[in-house]
Amino acid sequence: MDRVNAIWKHPLYQKYYARIEELEQNRVFCRHQMPHLLDVARIAYIRNLEDDMGFAKDVVYAAAVLHDIGKALQYEARIPHELAGVDIAEQILADLPAEAAYTTDEKRMILTAVKGHRRLREDPEPLEKLLYESDKASRMCFACPAEAQCDWSREKKNMEIKV
Ligand SMILES: [Fe+2]
Repeated sequence: MDRVNAIWKHPLYQKYYARIEELEQNRVFCRHQMPHLLDVARIAYIRNLEDDMGFAKDVVYAAAVLHDIGKALQYEARIPHELAGVDIAEQILADLPAEAAYTTDEKRMILTAVKGHRRLREDPEPLEKLLYESDKASRMCFACPAEAQCDWSREKKNMEIKV
């Protein structure tokens, strides 16, 4: 099995993903399921190629697929989702079968990116910054029926198509 699908199929991932799906069923604002996660992965991978950043495709996809996995714990236990997410992601990455394992360095980069995706630190690592920017760029606020009620700042919202 490839490494990204090993994450997706991990029981802990499935458990939290299903919970997010359930909790966001009637949400009018941004959701955090596969359409969003894969939008982020693809945007990040395109930027990775355009800017010659040199990240392996499945490292970029791992960070994207894992970045919002803590959302259910934010809704239910009020734990900020980037912190809940880093904890869940760490357990999943530590538990992948040997043939789908990420290296120690890759795991560290992915976890740093998950933890930093919500607010950009001063001096972020390259994958952390790439994930942060791709996450924000993925939202189509200009075509969102709930845009007027959304509390994202004007600077964060994408009010036109960015090419
Ligand atoms: Fe996100």
